[in-house]
Amino acid sequence: MATANRGQWSGKTGFILAAAGSAIGLGNIWRFPYTAGENGGGAFVLIYLAFVMLIGIPVVLAELSIGRKTEKNPVGAFKALVPNSLWPYLGGLGVLTGFGILAFYSVLAGWTLSYLYGAVTGIYGGVMNAEESAALFTHLIGDPVLTISLTAAFLFLTVIVVRKGVSGGIEKATKILMPLLLLILIILAVRSVTLPGGSEGLAYLFTPDFSKLSGTVIMSALGQALFSLSLGMGAMITYGSYFPKTENLHQAGIAVALFDTGIAILAGLIIFPALFFVGVEPGAGPGLVFIVLPSIFGSLPAGQLFAIAFYALLAIAALTSTISLLEVVVAYFVDEKGWDRNKAAWILGGLCFVLAVPSSLSSGGSAMFTDFLGTGLSFLDINNIIWGNYSLTIGALLICLFVGWQWGIPTALESLESSGHKMPGRNFLGFLIKVVCPVAISIVLIYIIVTQQYF
Ligand code: TRP
Repeated sequence: MATANRGQWSGKTGFILAAAGSAIGLGNIWRFPYTAGENGGGAFVLIYLAFVMLIGIPVVLAELSIGRKTEKNPVGAFKALVPNSLWPYLGGLGVLTGFGILAFYSVLAGWTLSYLYGAVTGIYGGVMNAEESAALFTHLIGDPVLTISLTAAFLFLTVIVVRKGVSGGIEKATKILMPLLLLILIILAVRSVTLPGGSEGLAYLFTPDFSKLSGTVIMSALGQALFSLSLGMGAMITYGSYFPKTENLHQAGIAVALFDTGIAILAGLIIFPALFFVGVEPGAGPGLVFIVLPSIFGSLPAGQLFAIAFYALLAIAALTSTISLLEVVVAYFVDEKGWDRNKAAWILGGLCFVLAVPSSLSSGGSAMFTDFLGTGLSFLDINNIIWGNYSLTIGALLICLFVGWQWGIPTALESLESSGHKMPGRNFLGFLIKVVCPVAISIVLIYIIVTQQYF
């Protein structure tokens, strides 16, 4: 447990910003609005919010308590707590999932660079209609050489930060940029809500129509809650392991969860009114945000400047998320396999690039990956669902079972409270982790299996 060698966040704020950096990313700004749109709006949003409160926050705290206690990567953490058991495989699933997510996430992150380039070169000449904007989208993301290069560029940036270790790179990057992103989002939300037709968008987002509920909607809401908070694969175990021993960990964890959810709602406030303004279908799919946003920039004074700032900050928000994904994988190879951090970052980043190529080609670059195996879904979409929904859900279920029934709630609470800060509602939290989360997650999974609504 060589704390000094592993590095530590410089304080509570450092941790909050870094963990918020991990949580806030394309999950909030790209994935939340398009998933909400595909799943009928209000009812999805309500269930997503309920999952954040009932499952997201308990799992954040469960992961952080493991990380603080063991000061290790997910595999090492379970090894330290229950040696000679199968639990380290749960950590292994987390490392694999981190890889799986990074391999498609970096492709999308590459799209943001493409849009940033478009913004700099002045593509946004005025208010764009839906067709113009969709054509622009297809143009920017359908070019195979461009998307592959941008994916490579993004992974390269990620490696550059991760190879230097937590407090050096990760923390510095987030400190100024997260608040700046928040500011831009607020300005865009104000603009969007006041667009003609804005109230229709708000009604779509906030009026639950429960006839739209289905197994898929509920599963997507659960997956979204976990994905957005970076849960279910040990990212928060890893980040919790760098948390200063003297600081209030549960307060920081809850702050991150609320902050992240607030940003997702803010993204909804930007996208949905604008979508009705420009005439795009809410269920347009993964391209939704990219197609809708140019319309807002076109209607703002100094729209081009806003577009540049927005895409730059979005790319950075994505970067602080890819950093946390790669960090989990790198921490495993450094701690458990004794690799040099620099070498681990380069090799694993490079391997991830190879795995990301099919996803890069799945938005028009290659017909085979664009409609993968006749599913009507792209290779990227399928990876998003498998790793981003199912794998995280199974991971979160097992983490709750571990903390609730194997390690024990009292030990977890002791770890959370080891700085001397008593946690309000501690028994309720224990009940959520031990009973409510496992039961709720199992019901969702069993329902999906019985009704076969997998996608
Ligand atoms: N939460 C990030 C987002 O919303 C994505 C992410 C980063 C993530 N690290 C993760 C998701 C770990 C799941 C697990 O963009």
